[in-house]
Amino acid sequence: MDKKWWKESVVYQIYPRSFCDSNGDGIGDLNGIISKLDYLKNLGIDVIWLSPVYKSPNDDNGYDISDYEDIMDDFGTMEDFDKLLKEAHARNIKIVMDLVVNHTSDEHKWFIESRSSKENPKRDYYIWREKKDNKEPNNWGSYFSGSAWQYDEKTDMYYLHLFSKKQPDLNWENSKVRKEVFDMMTRWCEKGIDGFRMDVISLISKPEGLPDGEKSKDSLYGSSAACANGPKVHEYLKEMNKKVLSKFDIMTVGECAGVTLEEAKKYANADGSELNMVFQFEHVGLDDGENMKWSNKKISLAELKENLSKWQNGLDGIAWNSLFFCNHDQPRIVSRLGDDSKEFREKSAKCIATCLHLMQGTPYIYQGEELGMTNTKFESVKDFRDLESINAYYELTKAGVISEKELFPLICYKSRDNARTPMQWDNSENAGFTTGKPWIALNPNYKTINAKEQVNREDSVFNYYKKLIKLRHENEIIVYGKYELLLPNDEDLFVYQRILGNEKLLVCCNFSKEYRDFDFSEFKNGEVLISNLNVADITEKTGLSGYEAIVVREKLS
Ligand code: NOJ
Repeated sequence: MDKKWWKESVVYQIYPRSFCDSNGDGIGDLNGIISKLDYLKNLGIDVIWLSPVYKSPNDDNGYDISDYEDIMDDFGTMEDFDKLLKEAHARNIKIVMDLVVNHTSDEHKWFIESRSSKENPKRDYYIWREKKDNKEPNNWGSYFSGSAWQYDEKTDMYYLHLFSKKQPDLNWENSKVRKEVFDMMTRWCEKGIDGFRMDVISLISKPEGLPDGEKSKDSLYGSSAACANGPKVHEYLKEMNKKVLSKFDIMTVGECAGVTLEEAKKYANADGSELNMVFQFEHVGLDDGENMKWSNKKISLAELKENLSKWQNGLDGIAWNSLFFCNHDQPRIVSRLGDDSKEFREKSAKCIATCLHLMQGTPYIYQGEELGMTNTKFESVKDFRDLESINAYYELTKAGVISEKELFPLICYKSRDNARTPMQWDNSENAGFTTGKPWIALNPNYKTINAKEQVNREDSVFNYYKKLIKLRHENEIIVYGKYELLLPNDEDLFVYQRILGNEKLLVCCNFSKEYRDFDFSEFKNGEVLISNLNVADITEKTGLSGYEAIVVREKLS
């Protein structure tokens, strides 16, 4: 297998708005990030993925960009960005930028021109369609509720927005749009950034004729699923690769809603013709229910094992996996897959981390995950800031699909705002995140769960993550070893092996609260690499306590 720096790296995602505020306006910023680079260096990560910092009216917290080559006022200036890049590089930390080019903001100058008249040279930069029977051009719904079409009086036509109406979709069929995007990317690469995380890149090629999508029983709109992995997406990415990516030593990860294993083999093919890796979402969709993500169903461990193993084995030697449970769109994993009670929070956070970080692929840590941060407590709809959560609440309850009383707890559980509460730095007011009024309420548990308390405590979640990162840097088998699942049907134990040359690792994680027997005899000559109970020797070991995790290394003769 080809060795690459991005296969050997651990990435840390920063959601700048919620990371660290340096100027007391209640919003995180670039100087705040700079002030925490030593914290990240101490953790040991190699790469920062920076969620969007570009100019934006903030309808979707920066995922609606009005200028790709300027910085959002809330976050600072381009000089601040240059300083961040320099300071990160001085610490051997790379910076990967979010690239949001499925859509722009409706306040981007291209869209302002495009919307101004049918004859404008930029009209075709976006996807405009005539009314159909005096209604929307097709039945597609937006990911953020409502129709995916917005009527525009000025020219009496509709434009497509798969996300909010302030996020019009770019028309990738237009070679001028592709050139603008590729040139902009090139300028960022020339500035010295180290890669791109590409927002919903699987959606850029729309199906021919924009046909109506399937409508399930209770849904108000048809699905736009046909946009995922559309007809020309690989052609566009190959062109992007040829014109931009191949010219720089950067890493690329495509956020690929709706990606299948077969598609991922194309997006992330080891031949290097498109991207380095993709984010797939099957494993974090295993707890979807009747109303899609708004469900409190628990992830079944057997299904999770089957799914992750399918990706581990399916891409081995063909493409490359990214490993994640958390990001700015997902609820906190310790509240979702682990147990956030006082008794098990730290232990289950470490168990989940062990299970993920010992797999093949590039691991991603989302800010606060390394502290075992949990879901927060919302008292009312007014506490939400995220437009997805707010829109879904009103749309589904107004349409009578589900009552407010039933839906509210489901949104509290799955809302993206769980990931967006401010980073918990210490137990002072506002957790050391800001001296002002935070843009979103803090998780009240910051008094006990915070970085300051954990950094110098040897058995903290932080120091456990630090160990996992160090182990990956020191053991090629963790990066390149082959994966093999053991006990596929066990509902509580996630056990797998990694094999490379004459070395073998046994990774054992108990995802239940109860003690479980496990036969270690085959590995009795092995040495313990890491254990969330500080077990040093397995010769006498016959099982795993609730949420216990242990990794054993054995030399094969
Ligand atoms: C995916 C991003 O992760 C999410 O936060 C955003 O709202 C949508 N894409 C739209 O850009």
